[in-house]
Amino acid sequence: MMRIWENNPELEVIHLTMRFGGLTAIGDLSFNIARKQITALIGPNGAGKTTVFNCITGFYKPTEGMLKLTHEDGKTFLLERMDDFMVNRVAHVARTFQNIRLFAGMTVVENLMVAQHNALMNASGFTIGALFGSKGYKRADAEAIENSKYWLDKVGLMNRADDPAGDLSYGAQRRLEIARAMCTKPRLLCLDEPAAGLNPRESDELNKLLLSIRDDHGVAIILIEHDMSVVMGISDHIVVLDYGRKIADGTPDEIKSDPAVIRAYLGVEDEDAPVEILKEAAAMHRAELREAGNTKTKPTKPVLTAKKPIAKKAVRK
Ligand SMILES: Nc1ncnc2c1ncn2[C@@H]1O[C@H](COP(=O)(O)OP(=O)(O)O)[C@@H](O)[C@H]1O
Ligand SMILES: [Mg+2]
Repeated sequence: MMRIWENNPELEVIHLTMRFGGLTAIGDLSFNIARKQITALIGPNGAGKTTVFNCITGFYKPTEGMLKLTHEDGKTFLLERMDDFMVNRVAHVARTFQNIRLFAGMTVVENLMVAQHNALMNASGFTIGALFGSKGYKRADAEAIENSKYWLDKVGLMNRADDPAGDLSYGAQRRLEIARAMCTKPRLLCLDEPAAGLNPRESDELNKLLLSIRDDHGVAIILIEHDMSVVMGISDHIVVLDYGRKIADGTPDEIKSDPAVIRAYLGVEDEDAPVEILKEAAAMHRAELREAGNTKTKPTKPVLTAKKPIAKKAVRK
């Protein structure tokens, strides 16, 4: 298989380091994300995956390194220099969270409309014009409604449009979060454990949705995921982290049989059944998630904790 990510990538992560006090959560990490492909970022709990997302999306300022985003039209952005709000609005990077964050009291469609608030405010010229129905505002408003409808339909939530988001099942909330991210028209979509807590049918639907986002919308996806049926089923490229370092980077076939990956997951080497081992590790992770009531993931390995978090927004993990 061609290693498309090596040439002309959407995102280059270049010598990224993130330290929290004495803890190096990410150490000198470099990898590329190809345009219009699905890249999976995998590794044991505490490996630094979510921290990578927090750096890409402007939640954390990396200690060192560069995050160079290049759109197809040649525009480039150095994400490490931008605030989270600008990363989304100007660089067109959107994300979902490991712990779902929706406005639970708002309806499903309201959640999607709020996501498009920036576009609507721009169209209003930040004046009262919007209230009196200026043409530009009306057009933007109609577009936002169309966009919401499109994504509601796409994620199968049209019949739940007027229900409070908090009433949806866990799987439906995960889909709504993806729809909300897509409403901001990203070129790069970052999904933090989108299949966590889904049943097999839902995780199958998720695969189809992500493939369609890639193929029909040309969006580059970076996916943190423990569910190996999702990772191996849809990824074009896999990057493996362990203790904040990259231990493997390649196609799914290359990763499946990589001894370093298998060691990282279970501390053993079994060349005969690598995928089984990865699956087992994923099942263990899911069990842990259930135990933790899906609110928090617990590290499977003993992990050092920093005495004093120095992250820009340490509480927003
Ligand atoms: N804001 C923070 N302050 C201190 N330590 C943090 C912070 N965020 C993450 N860490 C630490 O960084 C390491 C990597 O965490 P994380 O990126 O959440 O891992 P993963 O998503 O791979 O499970 C962990 O040891 C975690 O405790
Ligand atoms: Mg995480």
